[in-house]
Amino acid sequence: MKAVVTGGAGFIGSHLVEELIRQDFNVHIIDNLISGKYDNIHPLATLHIEDICSDKAKQIILDEKPDVVFHLAAQADVSRSIQDPQYDADVNVQGTINLLEACRDASVNKFIFASTSAVYGNLQKELITEQDLTLPVSYYGLSKLTAESYIRLFHYLYGLQYTILRYGNVYGPRQTPKGEGGVVAVFLERLKKGLSFNIHGDGEQTRDFIYVKDIVQ
Ligand SMILES: NC(=O)c1ccc[n+]([C@@H]2O[C@H](COP(=O)([O-])OP(=O)(O)OC[C@H]3O[C@@H](n4cnc5c(N)ncnc54)[C@H](O)[C@@H]3O)[C@@H](O)[C@H]2O)c1
Repeated sequence: MKAVVTGGAGFIGSHLVEELIRQDFNVHIIDNLISGKYDNIHPLATLHIEDICSDKAKQIILDEKPDVVFHLAAQADVSRSIQDPQYDADVNVQGTINLLEACRDASVNKFIFASTSAVYGNLQKELITEQDLTLPVSYYGLSKLTAESYIRLFHYLYGLQYTILRYGNVYGPRQTPKGEGGVVAVFLERLKKGLSFNIHGDGEQTRDFIYVKDIVQ
């Protein structure tokens, strides 16, 4: 089996690549290394340093004809999305459309998308389900929700099979303090430097956390 993993040099993507290789997949990574690192790349994976918005990224999928595409590459910084909604949409919406067109044309069997619980916005509920209202309060949440809608339409119009996973706050090795859900990495970095933690608000707020290996599974 052959897989393309976009964002395979990043935090979650690199763990996914490791597991796919353990399961004997032939893995191709598309990553422009904007936040991903060479050090995260599995030696048995083929790295293509390309932007997901480019024609070259499209061509890689057309040439490789993978069985499955895991799409994790993203502008995943919530604050940056507020500062630069245009860039956020370029990567998360246009980039996803670019890959979807390639998957349609290459007859890829399945498209698996890394979405986010940020699509729900500030929903005040103990337990959130797929049926709950989506009302993003960041451009990041909005661009991911929009990408989800494009995926559904590619399925409706062309039969492209898909799975959308809305992750909570993911933590684990190789996480950087920059991305979504980075509080564990932020605290660990400060701990390493012997610094105290900055608690925002009254400290009573809660988040849901999930370990990166559980996401991969
Ligand atoms: N970390 C979390 O808690 C969390 C929560 C919900 C959803 N997600 C989603 O999971 C996915 C992976 O997140 P992560 O935490 O591993 O982030 P990350 O920043 O470590 O990984 C993203 C990867 O995408 C690459 N990339 C970014 N823009 C690109 C572009 N235009 N072209 C090619 N490559 C590009 C980066 O270089 C990086 O390797 C993202 O789609 C993110 O939105 C993450």
